Amino acid sequence: MAAIQDQQLRQLTHVLPLGTRIDASGHLEVGGCDTVELAREFGTPAYVYAEDDLRARARAYVDAMRARHGDFDVLFASKAFPCTAAYRLFAAEGIACDVASGGELALALRGGFDPARVYLHGNAKSLSELGEALDAGVGHVVLDSFDDIERLERVARERGARQAVLIRVTPGVAGRTHAAISTGQADSKFGFGMDDARRAIERARDSEHLDLQGLHMHIGSQLLSLDAYRPAIEAIATLGDFPTYNLGGGLGVAYTAEQQPPSIEQYVEVQVNAANELLGRGKKLLIEPGRSLVANACVTLYTVETVKRNVSTWVGVDGGMSDNLRPMLYGSAYEAFFADRAARVGSGERCHVAGKHCESGDVIVRSVPLDDPKPGDILVTPATGAYGHAMANNYNGIPRPPVIFCKDGDARVVVRRETYEDLAARDVG
Ligand code: LLP
Repeated sequence: MAAIQDQQLRQLTHVLPLGTRIDASGHLEVGGCDTVELAREFGTPAYVYAEDDLRARARAYVDAMRARHGDFDVLFASKAFPCTAAYRLFAAEGIACDVASGGELALALRGGFDPARVYLHGNAKSLSELGEALDAGVGHVVLDSFDDIERLERVARERGARQAVLIRVTPGVAGRTHAAISTGQADSKFGFGMDDARRAIERARDSEHLDLQGLHMHIGSQLLSLDAYRPAIEAIATLGDFPTYNLGGGLGVAYTAEQQPPSIEQYVEVQVNAANELLGRGKKLLIEPGRSLVANACVTLYTVETVKRNVSTWVGVDGGMSDNLRPMLYGSAYEAFFADRAARVGSGERCHVAGKHCESGDVIVRSVPLDDPKPGDILVTPATGAYGHAMANNYNGIPRPPVIFCKDGDARVVVRRETYEDLAARDVG
């Protein structure tokens, strides 16, 4: 077994799951499993995760925090990859969890999270979601609007409860990223602006059913620069002194070879230093990474169905915007290469990798060199572990792909492929 020796593929080391290699027959191996074999055994498209990668990143966050700060918690922002096996894995790693809906809460509990270590988010939580959270004994609810405060208070009063809460603040500082995933700016659907935050703090402090523990901020996602964190923390520091601060997630990942995001250690360093300096020492600091825990742990496998040449070369695969919406929503770029000749990554004719959905925008990767594409080839797109499975859909009646966890050469299906029966399972008319 060779590690990634090939010069071309080595440029993708930081994009691929930890431990990825090329085996003696030239096949890409993830989690010790031959991806060509995986495609044969489980079919395509399929999300293939290296379990060790998920664990290593959770540990990297915990270790980085522990090295710099006594009182902390790392939360898995579970919207990035909400499936039972992921919740189970991160619960076993001992980290906490954030959920953005009643559905994610149900999955988190199913996956074994201690409700006391779950944080409920949401800019439009329903009364029933708040009720479910309180009945489950969720540790913290993150308040997002004055209506949210009224409702949570009502739900807590009905239960004779006092609920620990954080107030989400929009600090007026936005991280540099795609507009759809920028959240720190004043004109945002999330959180309280700075002036409203002062009123919300008073309001929550006056309530006998709310126990205000601190503030929350999340300034954006897929941030490849850490510059915005310090000014954002500086802004929330003007709102008073609290025991707990949740500094959000947002650390970007490498989708392509040239992207070089900050490391987990650098991210933690910036957040902790700014917090200690600007918020005061001895605070409980929470961070809630999603993407950077799970994105690079996964590759998607597709089968090439057609190769069409007109003005461009169109390599049509058996998935598309039903398993990866990110190129269509955010114009995100991905790498692509063939599983059985991984060393040839970066060589060959320029192609567009097209999905099988009925619209022209369904292109997964644009203008990527592919080595002699043919029907039957297994195509790999790396870094699909965050917001892929999470945002998968059934457009055009395509069953959603399975999720496969690989470790030490063993592969197990943790989410099975959907069937045609599943597609009609909710149809009652
Ligand atoms: N905390 C809060 C309150 C959030 O809203 C988010 C992400 C996170 C933490 C985790 O952020 P991360 O570490 O993953 O950047 N569907 C989009 C991403 C949406 C992010 C939503 N909020 C995408 O595929 O890029």
